[in-house]
Amino acid sequence: MQTLVVDHPLVAHKLTMLRDAATQAPTFRRLADELVTLLAYEAMREMRVRPVMVNTPLCPAAGVKLADPDPLVVPVLRAGIGMLDGMARLLPTADVGFVGMVRDEESLVASTYADRLPGDLSGREVFVLDPMLATGGTLETVINMAADRGAAAVTAVCLLAAPEGVARLESAFPADDPVRVRVVTAAVDERLNDRGYIIPGLGDAGDRLFGVI
Ligand code: URA
Repeated sequence: MQTLVVDHPLVAHKLTMLRDAATQAPTFRRLADELVTLLAYEAMREMRVRPVMVNTPLCPAAGVKLADPDPLVVPVLRAGIGMLDGMARLLPTADVGFVGMVRDEESLVASTYADRLPGDLSGREVFVLDPMLATGGTLETVINMAADRGAAAVTAVCLLAAPEGVARLESAFPADDPVRVRVVTAAVDERLNDRGYIIPGLGDAGDRLFGVI
């Protein structure tokens, strides 16, 4: 697995505002949306393209288009929904699948309550949206779901990551894994606390996006 921490002043600025407990939900949602678009730009750097010719007003010109098949974007419910618009802005033709995961607050083990992914992902690039890579349990499960259905590459786009989660995914998906797995994030923080929250982090991403339910 490869981890890319996007090093850019705009990314750092928006992440700092997301961390701030004084940032209210409407601003938090807008910032998360903008930050995802910046991360998505980097996440798509290795997308496959095919050569095409177009006619400019003056003459033919060689260029590229994104290769078929269309990529699949998978927000992990619920917090990943807050990342979908920012991603779809750059990839409007992508299909969207959904996975619902809930984590037991005592054991911190994540279990699947919804699986709305295509049965066959042969050769497709998959972008998984999950704001917080904490223990890594959720992303390990979702990446395996995509890999088992034939995905060629899986990129997880996360606002923030913990070293524990990155290490777990690195051991689950070693560099020679047949599926190319990458994590793109704005920062890898210090650690997890005993409740599985990222420190310093930004709190519960779902609650900050959508409120406490
Ligand atoms: N999920 C969150 O929303 N926040 C964390 O810090 C860890 C997991």
